[in-house]
Amino acid sequence: MTARLAASVSFLDWMQQVQTGMEAVLDRFLPSPAVVPARLHQAMRYTALDGGKRVRPLLVFAAGELFDTPLPLLERAAAAVEMIHVYSLVHDDMPCMDDDALRRGKPTVHVQYDEATALLVGDALQAQAFEVLSGVTGADDSALVPRQLRMLNLLAQASGSVGMCGGQAIDLASVGMTLSLAELEQMHRKKTGALLRAAVMLGALGGKALSADEMAALDDYAGAIGLAFQVVDDILDATADSATLGKTAGKDAADNKPTYVSILGLAESQALAQRLRSNAHQALAPFGDKAQRLRELADLIVQRKA
Ligand code: IPE
Ligand code: IPE
Ligand code: MG
Ligand code: MG
Ligand code: MG
Repeated sequence: MTARLAASVSFLDWMQQVQTGMEAVLDRFLPSPAVVPARLHQAMRYTALDGGKRVRPLLVFAAGELFDTPLPLLERAAAAVEMIHVYSLVHDDMPCMDDDALRRGKPTVHVQYDEATALLVGDALQAQAFEVLSGVTGADDSALVPRQLRMLNLLAQASGSVGMCGGQAIDLASVGMTLSLAELEQMHRKKTGALLRAAVMLGALGGKALSADEMAALDDYAGAIGLAFQVVDDILDATADSATLGKTAGKDAADNKPTYVSILGLAESQALAQRLRSNAHQALAPFGDKAQRLRELADLIVQRKA
C-alpha cells in the first residue's frame, strides 16, 4: 500500500484497495516458499494468501486513518492480526476441534497437507505475527517503539487464554450444552470478539495519543462489532450455503454447538445483530464524520452474506 485514500473514495473502492494491498503486505511478511522448510512455508502461504474477507485488516486501517497511525506500522498491525486470525482458523478446522474440510473455498490445511503441518502452520503464523508487529518500521523508529510495545501487549492478551484461545476452550467444552445468554455472550466475546476488538485498538494505538473518553468510545464500538461478528457468523452457518461461505454450512447444528441461533432463534439473533450495529454507530458519535469508515464496517459486518 502506498498512500492513504481520500475520504471521498467510496467505501467499496476503499475496501478493495485495502484488500488488494493486504495481499501484497502479507506476501511480503510471510516467509518465502523457497526457504527451508519449504513445505511448511508453502502451507503457511496456502492458507494466508488469496482468500478471506480481511475484515480485521480493514478495521486496523479504518481506525488507523482516524488516529493518523503511520502507514508502515498500520501494515504491520494489519498483517499481524490477520496472521493470528488465520492461525486460529487452521487450528479451529483440525479434527480435534471442529473437524472441517473446507475453508475459504479450499481444502483445509490438515486435508491438503497433514495434521502435524496444520498444527505447525498455526504455531508458526502466531510467532510470525509477533515478529512482524515488533519489527523495525523504518519510519522514525524511536517514536514508534513505545507504541509497538503497547500493541504487542494488546495483541497477546486478545489471542491468549483470556481472549481467543480461552473462547475456543469454552466453545469446545460447551458442545451439547444449553448456555445461558450471559455464558454464550462471554464465549463469543472471547473466541471472536477479542481479535476484532484488538484490530480496532491496534489501528488506534499506533497513532496520536487517545484521551480516556476516546479510548472508552472506541472500545464500546469494538466490543459491539466484535460480538456482532460472531452473532452473524452463527446466523450464516444456519442460513447460507457452503459455496457462498467457502466453508461447511450447517456445521454448528450438526456438531450440537450452542449458538445465538440455537439459543435465541433466527429472528431474535437478527434483531440482536441490528441492535449491536446501532450501538456501534452510537459509540462513534464523538468522532463525527472522521469515523465514517468504521461506521461502514459495522454495517458490513452485520449485513454481510458470507
Ligand atoms: C471466521 O472469520 C471465523 C470467525 C472468527 C467467526 P471470518 O468470517 O472473518 O473468516 P475469513 O477471514 O473471511 O475467511
Ligand atoms: C471460530 O468460530 C472462532 C475462531 C476461529 C477463533 P467458528 O468455529 O464458528 O468459526 P467458523 O464458522 O468455523 O469459521
Ligand atoms: Mg469453532
Ligand atoms: Mg469452526
Ligand atoms: Mg461459525
